[in-house]
Amino acid sequence: MSNILVTGGAGFIGSNFVHYAVENTEHTVTVLDALTYAGNRASLAGLPEDRVRFVQGDITDAELVDRLTGEADAVVHYAAESHNDNSLHSPRPFLDTNIVGTYTLLEAARKHETRFHHISTDEVYGDLELDDPERFTEQTPYNPSSPYSSTKAGSDLLVRAWVRSFGVQATISNCSNNYGPYQHVEKFIPRQITNVIRGIRPKLYGAGENVRDWIHANDHSSAVLTILEKGRIGDTYLIGADGERNNKDVVELILEEMGQPRDAYDHVTDRAGHDLRYAIDSTKLRTELGWAPEFADFESGLAATIQWYRDNEAWWAPAKDTTEAFYASKGQ
Ligand code: NAD
Ligand code: DAU
Repeated sequence: MSNILVTGGAGFIGSNFVHYAVENTEHTVTVLDALTYAGNRASLAGLPEDRVRFVQGDITDAELVDRLTGEADAVVHYAAESHNDNSLHSPRPFLDTNIVGTYTLLEAARKHETRFHHISTDEVYGDLELDDPERFTEQTPYNPSSPYSSTKAGSDLLVRAWVRSFGVQATISNCSNNYGPYQHVEKFIPRQITNVIRGIRPKLYGAGENVRDWIHANDHSSAVLTILEKGRIGDTYLIGADGERNNKDVVELILEEMGQPRDAYDHVTDRAGHDLRYAIDSTKLRTELGWAPEFADFESGLAATIQWYRDNEAWWAPAKDTTEAFYASKGQ
């Protein structure tokens, strides 16, 4: 049994990881989270206090990070500014958290010789053509498009340099688009589900032909635990569940599942620099470490996610109006 420091553990994927680790391992967890607009203490409600400790703080706070890292057996680093649309309007927090925050954690891991796992994204590879026969692999060159993805790419490169120059015991994973409970209503799937619940028409950027490769957050968590336990130090692993869908198909699935006409949505202003397609080849993770996803069926995972948002309006309602007002001001 070990103590894992989980940064960003009150966010979407971090909180899913904490729930998953408590249910499926004997680890204890310390969550370090600044509770930005994206963090929600309620996402950790009901977890046992003898397994999960919550510390509110910033990953750029070197003194705090040093102390908590010194107490941990491993760090799993989720904390980030994570939303592309926000990065287009206000890039600065992305540099502070994603670059300086990761640097601060790496320095602490270096000092205390703590095992470090860095959570990253497939967006560091840029995008693919719709008919490209190749998917992203660990060998794909970095080519990020947005302030968000470029700061994630920068953070990955810091991790690689700290491994090579200072011998930090780190691994990196780059995952595709996650869905599931506890995702902020600014993101595509929860935005559309909560729009339908509120009687607002879903909003599709541009023509809706952009493709994302969907994976359930629980499958991301099981992959991260696998890499933490069995991954080779210094290596990168791509995480994906063969879940490619275009945005139009996803909106239509949501509408159908929620008992609405499949065409009851609006086309709105497209995202600047909008990546066309992401697709992950996770062969390395599957063959070398023996990982496989459990949520193979996107439609049933989506139906369960819709039900979660129906059942948990108190969790998402406080953020809904502000989020929609922001999008409305941008014509989206
Ligand atoms: P999120 O925005 O839902 O959560 C981010 C969390 O980090 C929040 O709880 C927030 O309070 C916290 N945080 C932000 N800045 C902080 C700071 N300076 N100090 C401490 N805490 C801070 O993000 P998410 O969607 O859960 O993404 C988590 C990680 O996974 C990110 O690193 C992201 O790049 C990566 N990722 C996300 C996806 C996806 O589909 N959402 C896919 C692949 C990788
Ligand atoms: O690929 C992994 C990435 O997935 C993560 O690194 C990011 O943190 C995460 O936010 C996500 O990025 P995307 O930009 O792909 O996710 P988002 O939910 O913002 O949008 C998904 C797709 O849906 C994208 O093509 C834009 C589109 N979209 C989004 C919103 C919010 C719409 O058509 N309408 C919308 O209202």
